[in-house]
Order: sequence, then structure tokens, then C-alpha cells
Amino acid sequence: MNPNSPVEVMDAEAHHMAAIQSIYSHYVLNDLCSFEEEPPTAIEMLSRRAEVLRLGLPYLVAMADGRVVGYAYADAYRSRPAYRHTVENSIYVAPGQQGRGVGRALLETLLARCAAGGFSQMVVIVGNSTNAGSIRLHESLGFERVGVLRQVGFKFGQWVDTVLMQRSLRDLAGK
Ligand SMILES: CC(C)(COP(=O)(O)OP(=O)(O)OC[C@H]1O[C@@H](n2cnc3c(N)ncnc32)[C@H](O)[C@@H]1OP(=O)(O)O)[C@@H](O)C(=O)NCCC(=O)NCCS
Repeated sequence: MNPNSPVEVMDAEAHHMAAIQSIYSHYVLNDLCSFEEEPPTAIEMLSRRAEVLRLGLPYLVAMADGRVVGYAYADAYRSRPAYRHTVENSIYVAPGQQGRGVGRALLETLLARCAAGGFSQMVVIVGNSTNAGSIRLHESLGFERVGVLRQVGFKFGQWVDTVLMQRSLRDLAGK
């Protein structure tokens, strides 16, 4: 795939979910960014996407040269009703496609869509405090670090921190 080919972000459709499942499985099996340990099936991924859409939230895919190169979605931050204006994001770029702006393109669109949908805060819980790519991507688009939860995960035989980051969506509303 040409690393300079343009990246297009669009709503993910059911037929994208096999490629999305393959990207996510890679990170579940090989990386500390996800705290899952068993890759969910494509059917489970479809069901998770359906729940995101049911909440009126975006589930996006990034395409280049006709192939899925990344995906992102927003989900409820927590289920209790007073949290209903706050969303949490997830972003995964295909192995080999990182560092060429795919994550930025996905997160910019996700922020705009959530702001337009009336949500007021977006948080991200970055798995692994040494995840420089995710921390940098989020800082670059206006997220602030609000804390570190130390050793709340245990994966691949080691304790893992999470970094909590937050961005208001209010400045984006109406744009
Ligand atoms: C984190 C991730 C989504 C970033 O997406 P990406 O497409 O690689 O990032 P981009 O090319 O859009 O770069 C965005 C910014 O992050 C910076 N960046 C990207 N990777 C980086 C790295 N490994 N180290 C430091 N900075 C990095 C870029 O320089 C750019 O900074 P700028 O805005 O100041 O120019 C992607 O690398 C990924 O999928 N990682 C594995 C899964 C993961 O950790 N997901 C996040 C879960 S919280």
C-alpha cells in the first residue's frame, strides 16, 4: 500500500467489521494498549458496534487504497445516567499504517461528530503509561492528562498503568 495515498474517514459498515476485528486482535494479542486478553469474535465486534450506534455515537473507519487502515468509536464513559454527556474513545490503527496521520484523521472526525451530537466531554483511558503514540495524538488534539492509575492492569506478566486524559467538546459545538 502506498504510504502517501489519501486517507478517508467514514462511518463503519457491517462489512468492515472483519478487518476491524483483525486490527483489534493484533493489539489484544501483542500490546498493552488493550486490557482484553482474548480477541473478541467478529460477531461480538458487530454487537459492540450496534450498541455504540444505539447510543447515537459514531463508529468510524479509515480507508486508504480501498483497505481498512484504522477505526475509532465513542462509547458511554460509564453507564450511570449522570455520565450521559461524557463519552470515551477508542482508536486503533492497523499495524504498519501508524505515524502517517490515520489516528489524527479518525480522532478529528470523532471529536467533531461527538460535539455535533451534543456530548460535552470526551475521555480516553490510555492503556500503558509508556504509550507515547496515543498520549501524543491526544495531546495534539487538545486532551489534557488528568491522572495516572498505577498498576490497575496485569497483562503479559506485568503490572500496567492507565493514563486518564480528557477534552471538553464545548469549543467544537456548532462548528
Ligand atoms: C496511537 C495511535 C492511534 C496513533 O495513531 P497514528 O495514526 O499512529 O498517529 P498519527 O500519525 O495520526 O500521529 C498523531 C500525532 O502523534 C504523534 N505520534 C504518533 N505515533 C507516535 C509515537 N509512537 N511516539 C510519539 N509520537 C507519536 C505524531 O507525531 C503526531 O504528532 P503531531 O500531531 O504533533 O504531529 C496508533 O499508533 C495505534 O493504533 N496504536 C496502537 C493502538 C493504541 O495504542 N490505541 C490507542 C488506545 S488508547
